[in-house]
Amino acid sequence: MTKPRILLTRRWPAAVERRLSQDYDATLNTDDVPMTTEAIGAALNDYDAVCPTVSDRLPAQIFSGGQRARILGNFGVGFNHIDIAAATGAGLTVTNTPGVLTDCTADTALTLMLMLARRAGEGERELRAGNWAGWRPTHMMGTRLRGKTLGIIGMGRIGIATARRAHAAFGMKVIYYNLVDVPDDLIAGMDARRLDTIEAVLEAADVVSLHVPGGGDNTHLMNAARLALIGPDGFLINTARGDVIDQTALIAALREGQLKGAGLDVFEDEPKVPAELIAMENVVLLPHLGSATTETREDMGHMVADNLDAFFTGQRVPNAVA
Ligand code: DGY
Repeated sequence: MTKPRILLTRRWPAAVERRLSQDYDATLNTDDVPMTTEAIGAALNDYDAVCPTVSDRLPAQIFSGGQRARILGNFGVGFNHIDIAAATGAGLTVTNTPGVLTDCTADTALTLMLMLARRAGEGERELRAGNWAGWRPTHMMGTRLRGKTLGIIGMGRIGIATARRAHAAFGMKVIYYNLVDVPDDLIAGMDARRLDTIEAVLEAADVVSLHVPGGGDNTHLMNAARLALIGPDGFLINTARGDVIDQTALIAALREGQLKGAGLDVFEDEPKVPAELIAMENVVLLPHLGSATTETREDMGHMVADNLDAFFTGQRVPNAVA
């Protein structure tokens, strides 16, 4: 029997590439050069499955219907880079990778929180530059996290995992905003309090962590007015999607001292990062590392493979987003 033709748009962990190359007629991107939108569109005519990642762009115009591809196996949980309505309208199934990256992304949120509160990036830069003048009582004093209030915007899987870590490790009080009720058993033991508005969370929290999907109504959810509510002692953490924050407004708010600092793993126009942010000492910047562990990236790849296997053997696809 002919194997389905599949395309991976980027380099994937070796173990997953091996599995897919055995089971499918797989085209790998061994040079790991990003594909243009046009090239991905053309691939829809040549492959039975196209497997993009969160850094690809798949807008409506590349889906015409009548193309060969029948499934997009997205390597990533977020899918705001794919026009889902257009893809499904053209008859494609779209899958993602929920759950397996929850822990690592929450770990990254905590990493940013600690780096920011304890000025770790700033300290390392000082030391590496040869500017450390030695221990002294007033040197680079940061903020103690213990007992502070963490405000989660978007209490889904990753928001909950972040809150759990912060509560268990630092005794942080947890408040949150979420569109729908969160089942009690998922947040048991944290004494987490749901507030009615995003504004109420921003005003009450010492550290705000964003955990909503990107795109749609969440684009620039954190606008100038909301950023101003975080306050001069507050920190903002973003491991969700860059477009959730109005980046220009954030730069202005940081410059004006409307918040104390920001920890960012995601940006509006990745991989571009504004020079103004790079120049700021009270900002921690990571290159979208949320899920970047070998274990998690392999799990993500195997999840895509499981979805393809189900699809091509006529079974229910476990992680269809549409
Ligand atoms: C995702 O899967 O959406 C993440 O952003 C990649 O780490």
